[in-house]
Amino acid sequence: MIEFHPLAPALGAEVSGVQLRAPLPAAALERIREGLRRHLVLFFRDQAIGPADHLALAEAFGTPTPHPAYPHVDGFPAINILESTPERPTKIDTWHTDMTFLEAPPLGSILRARELPEVGGDTMWANLYAAYDGLSPGMRRYLEGMRASHSFAHGFRHSLAEPGGWERLGPAVRANPPIDHPVIRTHPETGRRALFVNRLFTTHLIGVPEAESAAILAFLFDHLETPEYACRFRWRTNSIAFWDNRATLHRPINDYHPALRRMERITIAGERPR
Ligand SMILES: [Fe+2]
Repeated sequence: MIEFHPLAPALGAEVSGVQLRAPLPAAALERIREGLRRHLVLFFRDQAIGPADHLALAEAFGTPTPHPAYPHVDGFPAINILESTPERPTKIDTWHTDMTFLEAPPLGSILRARELPEVGGDTMWANLYAAYDGLSPGMRRYLEGMRASHSFAHGFRHSLAEPGGWERLGPAVRANPPIDHPVIRTHPETGRRALFVNRLFTTHLIGVPEAESAAILAFLFDHLETPEYACRFRWRTNSIAFWDNRATLHRPINDYHPALRRMERITIAGERPR
């Protein structure tokens, strides 16, 4: 029996009663889908599964989509390796929704912990519905119909500034020009409205003077990062997090350098935000 144990009032639940080995029965997949709609991010413990099981789980929810900048697991181009090492510490230390620089950002991501620091390296998630609901009626009206620009080059600017950064990431920058999305999106399954901007990739509001755009976005980013909209997860080896990327943002906590942290992630193709 698959059960959900909420981690915080805002979002997040630990799931008991399932091993994520392929093939999962249709009833189990339906229960996970239901849990995801309700809790937005699900956490599974002690999942000593192989990459083929990880892939099969993702494929049960849609089409895995490779990342333009990250390496992948041998033989599994859809499984990206997110690694922070003493020599190459991670540079992602900002709240974000995955890959919003795409015309159709992922509907979700499934992240598995492979190697972890003794302590540290938690991840936080936040609820974009709660962030929308927490805006004043006036601010919601102001943002209605507004669009914002999202940029790969902005999100990866620190990597680009490194020696060899442009050689490595230039093709991805050219393949992913800035794209705009609605600031308020409607979730295609729940019909709920979500505040869809993020500090990592969103650069400006379209059709708004620069100073106004910067001030409004600064407010929205701070608002999205309200602790009451968030949960925090402590990983163990073989913990898996599966989140709805259309209704959440997340942030890795980079408090463990120089320890090694190695994760494997599959993102699942989504639809154009509306
Ligand atoms: Fe991410």
